[in-house]
Amino acid sequence: MTTILGTRLPLIQGALAQISTAPLVAAVSQAGGLGVLTTTGLDQAGLATQIQAVHSQTDAPFAVNLMLQQPNIPELLDYLLAHPVPVVTTSAGSPKRFAAQLQAVGTKVVAVIPSVKVAQKMAALGVDALVAEGMESGGHIGTLTTMALVQQVTAAVTLPVFAAGGIYDAAGVQAASALGAVGVQVGTAFLAATETPISRAYQEAVVAASDTSTVVTGYALNDAVRCLKNPLTEAYFAAERQGAAPAQLHALLDGSLAKAIAGDVDHGTLMAGQIAGRIQVIEPVAAIVKRLYPQAK
Ligand SMILES: Cc1cc2nc3c(=O)[nH]c(=O)nc-3n(C[C@H](O)[C@H](O)[C@H](O)COP(=O)(O)O)c2cc1C
Repeated sequence: MTTILGTRLPLIQGALAQISTAPLVAAVSQAGGLGVLTTTGLDQAGLATQIQAVHSQTDAPFAVNLMLQQPNIPELLDYLLAHPVPVVTTSAGSPKRFAAQLQAVGTKVVAVIPSVKVAQKMAALGVDALVAEGMESGGHIGTLTTMALVQQVTAAVTLPVFAAGGIYDAAGVQAASALGAVGVQVGTAFLAATETPISRAYQEAVVAASDTSTVVTGYALNDAVRCLKNPLTEAYFAAERQGAAPAQLHALLDGSLAKAIAGDVDHGTLMAGQIAGRIQVIEPVAAIVKRLYPQAK
């Protein structure tokens, strides 16, 4: 049995900006899910290197994520049209300008969406599937919870819908299925994978997190991001309370994910979702996938 995306399991590893590089992507695809490459910070040559690295480790399908706020989308798109990949996922914007071009070269287009209205727009556009992402998720978020969002999206469109936000194990997979989803997209749980190229300190912070450890920065900047509480988020909220200008808030946050990835857990943004409280150990991708799909061979 293969899924709509050509994988053995109806599991997407959500793109993780600057983090879901070839080792993680190949491990997830090899385990039967859909690994998704981040393109944040990559130019064409960087993207080519990453795709080559995935190909060298697995023949299984994988995806490339286009976070549409990135400035160099046209450059990356040119490469993906000339060198098609099985799936492209899009987020933080509409793939209207290029979805049909990608589909014409055999690439499936999966749009990450935060509301019924955007889901309907994407359905009208003819994308292949949707990821309905709730605000429990780590990283950039919308306003609806997974519970409320997924069932309203699956009722509103006939496209296959993957549920994202707060999913960690088989119980989450079953819950998503009960809401009408064909599968799940998981992000935070893969932060604790041994194949994930982030500092040990970031991974240990995710393991140490409880259910109430996350906060959302950036509402004042129209750029809400869920991350773990730390001295940076305290400084950010203090600045907000004191009426700091957007430029000052940006100065605190811009480039801060890279700091966390490098190990500065006090000044970096430790993007992670509310489900971090369930994560107990750093372990291989295969074990994380097994917890989501214990019956799978
Ligand atoms: C560290 C981190 C970085 C993320 N970066 C991206 C990204 O670049 N593009 C994207 O579409 N989603 C991104 N996401 C969202 C995930 O792909 C996924 O939808 C989300 O993590 C699912 O919810 P969960 O965190 O509860 O598993 C990110 C999430 C995290 C935790």
